[in-house]
Amino acid sequence: KKEKTLAMIKPDAISNMGQIIDLICKTGFNITKLKMVRLTKNEAFEFYQEHQGKPFLETLLSFISSGPVIAMELMGDNAIGKWRDTLGPTDSSIARSAAPMSIRARFGTDNTRNACHGSDSPISAAREIEFFFPTAGINRQNTAQ
Ligand code: CMP
Repeated sequence: KKEKTLAMIKPDAISNMGQIIDLICKTGFNITKLKMVRLTKNEAFEFYQEHQGKPFLETLLSFISSGPVIAMELMGDNAIGKWRDTLGPTDSSIARSAAPMSIRARFGTDNTRNACHGSDSPISAAREIEFFFPTAGINRQNTAQ
């Protein structure tokens, strides 16, 4: 079924944005929204609220707010699962052996610097898309698909 997901290129992979966006298109996703933005630490906390209390939260927030990110709404069949498959395992050092062609294997470094994010469920996808692309005023229904 047709789904939407939120993809984010993290600060460590911004230098590889061209290759990553090319791969997204060649994998068959439609990029229906896209924005480059630098998050404040508070905004990063809002985005990653489900990780409140985790030991790695502070490291994650510092990293995500350390430079620009590119947020994208991707559309396609089974987009949530398909994008997570394209990413590979969360830890890039594990991805390199388990899924060497994956985005995290190719463009990431470790558990924190892992190149890209993907929503893990339809509820997360809806919340994360709304976070970057709020549906109000002129943005309402403003999608490419
Ligand atoms: P992401 O898909 O953006 O979702 C949450 C992020 O937290 C994850 O990718 C990792 O970058 C980070 N993360 C998850 N688990 C760990 C961990 N054990 N140590 C450090 N960072 C982690």
